[in-house]
Amino acid sequence: MKSIWGENFSNVARNNRPSPIREMLAVIKQPGMISFAGGMPAPEIFPIEQFYEGAHILKDDGADLLQYGTTEGYPPLKEFLASWTAPRMGRTVGLDEMLITTGSQQALDLFAWSMIDEGDYVIVEDPSYLAALTVFFNHGGKFLGVPMDGEGMQIELLPGIIEKARSEGKKVKFIYTIVNFQNPGGATMSLARRKRLVEISKKYSIPVFEDDPYGYVRYDGEHLPSIFSFHDGDGVVYAGSFSKILSPGTRVGWITGPKEIIRNLTVFKQGTDLCSSPITQALVAEYCAKGYLDSHLPVIIDNYRVKRDAMEQSFKKHLAPLGITWVKPEGGFFYWLNVPSVNTNDLFKKAIEKKVAFVPGAPFCPVEGSGMHNARLCYTFPTPEVIEDGVARLAEAIGELAIPAM
Ligand SMILES: Cc1ncc(COP(=O)(O)O)c(C=O)c1O
Repeated sequence: MKSIWGENFSNVARNNRPSPIREMLAVIKQPGMISFAGGMPAPEIFPIEQFYEGAHILKDDGADLLQYGTTEGYPPLKEFLASWTAPRMGRTVGLDEMLITTGSQQALDLFAWSMIDEGDYVIVEDPSYLAALTVFFNHGGKFLGVPMDGEGMQIELLPGIIEKARSEGKKVKFIYTIVNFQNPGGATMSLARRKRLVEISKKYSIPVFEDDPYGYVRYDGEHLPSIFSFHDGDGVVYAGSFSKILSPGTRVGWITGPKEIIRNLTVFKQGTDLCSSPITQALVAEYCAKGYLDSHLPVIIDNYRVKRDAMEQSFKKHLAPLGITWVKPEGGFFYWLNVPSVNTNDLFKKAIEKKVAFVPGAPFCPVEGSGMHNARLCYTFPTPEVIEDGVARLAEAIGELAIPAM
């Protein structure tokens, strides 16, 4: 039977895809479930007291903060970000080169509005951040995937991919990359590849979306300069977020780029949510102005390093003997497993019976049919003891499903 809604749905609504992770949340919330699924920060280290200290701003500036704000964002927050991000960006960006967004997820959506026409192609890492793929897909985008290795996107394959696409009449609109501690792969793009990516972007006149919500969460090694800093800030937009370094509940992110594109994104934001909440922007700005962002980062990093190491040890103990391989991330939230012996969609069901959850690899892959032997595990949310228990349960589930090698 036809429904009054179904027959009037837009083409996008007819084809839209629910997020497998968001859909899984109901299962994951079952009592006793150990979840390595969502990319969630550790609740035990949320800086609740320090954040609350800034609440006086609601009394001091309440009349402004309870009002609509400007679409461009709360100026004191933008001023803070312009100077705080300067070492990474290579210079202090102007306030008209930055837009505050409702999470960096909104930056992805606004950018897609500005760049993608039905049938345009976006170059993405294979695998890539699932909710970015969803946004680009919803805007009519198609994908060209670039395989990853331990140094990030395999840049040398890019010219061939671009030239082939162009020879087939495909319009390639931009390159989307998560440069640091990639979601889901965990890899970080090497310095040499960052420079090469900029050369390729300039040569083929294809801009870059540099997505970097995890960049400040580095446990080992040295911070690397952003792609933005090599591109003279011209052909690159850089998206950042407070979600992983303070709290996702604030829904405060930002995007930096040339004035022309920032203005364009701002106009789309006018029609999307008018402005991000002035209240949360002001609370975040107060927190940052007191120096708490810098003093709290080491707390986050120490907490996550211990958990990353706990997961590494548990993998060595329980998963290495099963032929499972992985790359140890130097920061961020995720491990990406190669599980040759089982299909990870089947493994997900078996793991849920054992009360442990992860995200199967397929939804992260822009190429249909790949990722069947991969799994993404987030280690930042559970405690180290729970991590060990969860990995042991996962190994049991794999053992019950795996077909022994002949
Ligand atoms: C790579 C990447 N980009 C963007 C986001 C969106 O983050 P938020 O909207 O919370 O800033 C996430 C969240 O997990 C992410 O992993």
